[in-house]
Amino acid sequence: MDPDRALLEAARAARERAYAPYSRFRVGAALRTPGGRVYRGCNVENASFGLTICAERVALQTAVAEGERAFEAVAIDAGQAAPTPPCGACRQVLAEFGVDLRVLLAADPPVVLRLGDLLPRSFGPGDLPPPAEARS
Ligand code: THU
Repeated sequence: MDPDRALLEAARAARERAYAPYSRFRVGAALRTPGGRVYRGCNVENASFGLTICAERVALQTAVAEGERAFEAVAIDAGQAAPTPPCGACRQVLAEFGVDLRVLLAADPPVVLRLGDLLPRSFGPGDLPPPAEARS
């Protein structure tokens, strides 16, 4: 199967695991590395609503925890007819690892975007001063 189609399929499957009893808005995300590994995430809500985490950040943080640092595409499926774009917080968190990330939004046909176009002039690792020299 075409890798982008497979990634959208993984996001659709990840959506099944969403824990969204408050909003009932279930989201799945799938992130692909250059080596072809795919990491899935779903939104996980909380009774303390502000502690909810989006599907995209769950996928990214799962991948990083597994040792990944490079990503080429993320697919997002919220089960809607219209494409659901990532929220601002997720754009920022994804941008940490590169604004050339391709963003695939489930729809018919799917919408393909570049993260840097969704978050122009973003603040990133290169905006911080170099770490101070270690003191002896
Ligand atoms: N949500 C995501 O998981 N990803 C998005 O890109 C947009 C919003 C979740 C958060 C919350 O659980 C629900 O969707 C409604 O905002």
